[in-house]
Amino acid sequence: MSFQKYLLLPQLLSYAARAPRDPAKAWDRFWSGIRRTGNGGEVLWDTEDIREIEEVMNRVAAHFAPDLPVIDIGCGNGRFTRLLAARFPRVVGLDVSSHAIDKAWEESAGITNLSFHVADVSMPYALRWLTDELGGTNVFMRGVLHVLDPPRRAVAIENMRGALAARGVLYLSESSIDGDPLDHMVLQGATPTYLPEPMRKVVAAGVRPPSRFGDAEVREYFPSAAWEILESGPTVMYTLPLRTRDEIEALPSYFALARRRG
Ligand SMILES: C[S@@+](CC[C@H](N)C(=O)[O-])C[C@H]1O[C@@H](n2cnc3c(N)ncnc32)[C@H](O)[C@@H]1O
Repeated sequence: MSFQKYLLLPQLLSYAARAPRDPAKAWDRFWSGIRRTGNGGEVLWDTEDIREIEEVMNRVAAHFAPDLPVIDIGCGNGRFTRLLAARFPRVVGLDVSSHAIDKAWEESAGITNLSFHVADVSMPYALRWLTDELGGTNVFMRGVLHVLDPPRRAVAIENMRGALAARGVLYLSESSIDGDPLDHMVLQGATPTYLPEPMRKVVAAGVRPPSRFGDAEVREYFPSAAWEILESGPTVMYTLPLRTRDEIEALPSYFALARRRG
């Protein structure tokens, strides 16, 4: 993509100057400002798009151990946690933001086989307390590794490995746009003078734009000595309209289903 992406920098730096340095605080600041979720809401990645939901749930149904609990890491307002709770005996949603967890509880009233807790998956042993309680699990993650820097990614993956039962399976889907985070923003409609509102909300909170997590990253972070990749490949996640008023956007992404070895 062209050098013009660098013209986004003044806007980004002006938001960054006022934003928390700690990613956990930035996420909580983002969620504290959210009033509406789902289609027509304010959360960039929360579209309720049936094409993605069906594809994800079919993959999970084909591979997850049906009798094991599921942990949904970085669950946000819990959209996928609730979908998983309709299929699996017990589901626990975790998020680094307490405001996200409040929202997830609010939106899940009446569903009895799920719960939500605050946890930072990028902290060593962050899932130990939960697996002590649940035993081994399946693990679900949508759109989290792509917002973690490399050291945090490595810790998060080690934590997920520790949470998986021997029969348990990890599902992940992450954005995998060619190029750097600026390219990602340009693709999603950012210009030197304008950020689409759902994107602006994320940037203004201080959340850093995502980095690619595709085939190369799956091979790097899930080496074959430690992981068996059951299925993987390009996929699409959907976001709220960004470049037009009402067209849901397809975000080039990558998915993987994996089991731990040993
Ligand atoms: C792009 S959103 C995806 C939300 C949800 N998985 C979905 O698909 O609707 C990323 C989520 O990960 C959470 N998150 C970011 N860093 C995290 C961390 N270190 N530990 C746990 N959650 C984290 C954020 O608060 C946010 O809710």
